[in-house]
This record gives sequence, structure tokens and C-alpha cells, in this order.
Amino acid sequence: MKGDDAIITVELEGRKIKVPAGLTVIEALWDTGHDVKRGIGCLSGLCGACTVAFIERESKKVRFGLGCQKVIEEGMNVIMIPCFPCRAARYSLEAVALEKLKELYDELYTCNDCRACNICPEWINVAGVMRAAMAGDYEAAAAQVTDCVMCGLCASRCPKNIAPHFVALYIQRALARERPSPPNLESRLEEIESFRYDGEWSRVAAMDDEALREFCTAMAGR
Ligand code: FES
Repeated sequence: MKGDDAIITVELEGRKIKVPAGLTVIEALWDTGHDVKRGIGCLSGLCGACTVAFIERESKKVRFGLGCQKVIEEGMNVIMIPCFPCRAARYSLEAVALEKLKELYDELYTCNDCRACNICPEWINVAGVMRAAMAGDYEAAAAQVTDCVMCGLCASRCPKNIAPHFVALYIQRALARERPSPPNLESRLEEIESFRYDGEWSRVAAMDDEALREFCTAMAGR
């Protein structure tokens, strides 16, 4: 079990419980017997599956964060936010283009800048991204969303049913299609398509735990 020696009291999913200090929200849930399998993925702050809402002691403000990253504190009240259903436009990746944004995400242009979406656990100015997208300043929109983890919390607040994370993803994809591919990406794709590393993968897949550990340690030290 991870955590400091100190024991703190927090309210997790509506129950007051005691847990070792220093744990993240997800670790605290596990520590107290919650069988958390849904609502988590990478456990590294990347996939956005684990959004939580919390209030810190002495605070009246609800904040949002990622359960696998947020470290619990004495007196904190935390709940996990379930995945919010929202519409993702269907399109072919081959046909992604900026001029199709309005056709695919027409609701974007009903945004009245209420800024309810500005609750991003990654501190992205989501309303600012939507303003830039509506104004056609796609580079500015894309530049602001590089930290997006696709948790969809912003979409859960939008009274106009806009899914800002999907809009931003589309813009990023469309911009990427307009740019020349980096040469190293092209050569890597060629290597994959020609099965250049198939032998290496087979060798790694056949390793036992110890051999795999040694192999990973050697690779990390390169
Ligand atoms: S589990 Fe992926 S961001 Fe937390």
C-alpha cells in the first residue's frame, strides 16, 4: 500500500472514511475496498477517463480534476464523474477538412460564450477555444488544447449540446492533414508496413517476466 504514515479523513463517494495521506483519489478508493474498474484507464493522467469533482476543506468551490492524479487531502469531499454521453460526428479520417467543420458540428455556431465549459481539469480555456474555432482561427484553437485528455467534462455543462473536446479534436485532425508529414513519421510508417520489426516483437513476446524486466531496464538506460 502506498501513502504516508499519517491517516486523514475524507468523504469519498458520499462516505466519510479514513485513509493514509498521500494517496490519489483512485488509490484511496481502492484502499477502502471500492472495486474501481470503470472510469479509469491509463492511471497516468492521459486518457481522461477518471474525472472527479471535489471540494477542499474550508472551500465552497467545486473543482474538477483527474482521479488518478489528484492527491486527497484532509477534509476533502470527492465524487467520481461518470462518462457523459455526447454526440461525436461520424466522418472518414481520409476526408477530414476544416471547411466541413460547420457541416459536422453545426451546434458550435450556437455558442453564446456563457463559459460554463470552463471547468477543465487540465485548465484549458475551453470557451476561448470555442470562440477561436467559431472565428475560424483554427491554429489558435488547436494551440490551446494540446493538454486535452478528452474527459468530456466541458460537454457535460454546455446548454447548447456542444461537445468541445470533439470539436477541438476535429480541428486538430484537419490541421494535421493540411501539414506535410514529418519525414521521421513517414519512414516509421514504411517500417511498420514492411514488418521490419516483426522479428523483434516476436522475441519480446516470448520473454518471461525476468527477461522482460532486464530488457526494459536496458532499453530505459539507452
Ligand atoms: S486513468 Fe487515465 S487520466 Fe486518469
